[in-house]
Amino acid sequence: MTQISPELFNAFPDRAGTGSLKWKRFEDTDILPMWVADMDFLSPPAVREALADRVAHGVFGYTIPPADAEAEVIRYLREQHGVSAEADHLVWLPGLVQGLNLVCRAAGQAGDGVMVNTPVYPPFLSAPVFSDRERIPVSLKEGEGGVWTFDREAMEAAVTPRTRLFLLCNPHNPVGRVFSREELEWLLDFCERHDLWICADEIHCDLILDDVKHIPFLTLGERARARTIAFYSPSKTYNQPGLACAYAVIPDPGLRAAFKNVCRGVITEVNCFGYAGCTAAYRHGEPWRRELIKVLRKNRDTIVSYLAEHHPEIRIPKIEATYLAWLDLRGWDFPHPAAHMEAHGLSLSNGIDFGGERGFLRLNFGCPPDTLREGLRRLSAALA
Ligand SMILES: Cc1ncc(COP(=O)(O)O)c(C=O)c1O
Repeated sequence: MTQISPELFNAFPDRAGTGSLKWKRFEDTDILPMWVADMDFLSPPAVREALADRVAHGVFGYTIPPADAEAEVIRYLREQHGVSAEADHLVWLPGLVQGLNLVCRAAGQAGDGVMVNTPVYPPFLSAPVFSDRERIPVSLKEGEGGVWTFDREAMEAAVTPRTRLFLLCNPHNPVGRVFSREELEWLLDFCERHDLWICADEIHCDLILDDVKHIPFLTLGERARARTIAFYSPSKTYNQPGLACAYAVIPDPGLRAAFKNVCRGVITEVNCFGYAGCTAAYRHGEPWRRELIKVLRKNRDTIVSYLAEHHPEIRIPKIEATYLAWLDLRGWDFPHPAAHMEAHGLSLSNGIDFGGERGFLRLNFGCPPDTLREGLRRLSAALA
C-alpha cells in the first residue's frame, strides 16, 4: 500500500477564492468556520492525480457511468461492507440531498407520511415537506453514557396508516451513533409491520472512529433488500463533495423503477470528474482513509478531554463515527447560541436547524489539530 504521510493532515489549504461554501461566508472576518460538513484537508493524492489525468485528456463531454466506476463501487461495497450489488442496482446521483428529495417523491402520494428521527441532518426534514409529504418527526432518545437510540414507543405511537417511508441516517449526523444490529433489526421489523420503505443514508459509513462495526441495512437479508434504498458517496470520507458524485443502491426492481421514475428529466448526470474522483478514492484511497481516521480519532479525543477539563457542564454524545460533535449547551440558555459563538469568532451549526432543541450546536472537527485547538479556545472565550 502507498505510504501516506501524517503531515498531509497538518497542512492547512488556503480555500480563499475557491467559492468554498464553508469559508466564503466569513471572508474578510476573523470567524473560524467549523460548521458545514466538509473537511479542511486536501483530498487523497490518488484522487488529485486522477482528476489531473482527466483534465489532461481535454474532452469533457456527456458521460455515462464508466464501467470501471461501476466495477469499483461494486467491489468496494462487497469488500468494505459485505453488500452485494450489481451494476443494474446502482442509480448514480449528483448528490444525496437530491436523493432524499427523490425518495420522498417516489414513496406514496402527496399527503402520505415520511418518518424521520430528530435531531438530524436538515435535508431529512425539508425533503418530505418539499415533496408534499407529511413529515413525521420522532426524537431519538438519549440513553446511558450519551448513546442516542430509537425511541421505539414514540415511533410506534407516531406512525400512521398513511406513512410510507422511514429515513434512516446511519452512522448518524449529528449524534455520531453507529446503530447496532439489534437496533437495526428492530427497525426492519417496525418498517415491515407498517409496510414502510427504508431509505438508509450511509454516507458516513467509512468514518467509524470507535471499535464498532457499521452494519449496512442491505446486509440484514432479503427482507431488508426488498424495501431498502441505500445511499452512499465517497464525498464525506475523501473530502470531495464538490465533485457531485453519489449513488443509490436499490436491489428491488419495483423500488428501483419507482425511484428512477421520479428522476426522469430532473436529475443531471454525474460529470466526468465525479466518476474519476469516486473511482480513484475507492481504488487507491484506503491508506489515506486510515490516516484520516487516526487524525479524526485524536481530534475527537481532544474535544472530549478538553470539555471534561474546561467545560464539564457541556454534554456530548459518544462519538462513534463522523467528524461532527453535537454539543449540548442547553444549560446556558443563550437566546441565539450560534450567533453568540459567531460573535466570539467561531461558526458552528445551529442545533435548531436539525430539528433539535435550542441550545445544541454542531462542531465539525474535520480539520488539522491546531485549527481544532483554536476553535476550542474560541469556544471557551464565548463561554467565559
Ligand atoms: C447524512 C448526510 N446525507 C447527505 C449529505 C449530503 O450529501 P450530498 O453532498 O451528496 O448532497 C450529508 C452531508 O453532510 C449528510 O451528512
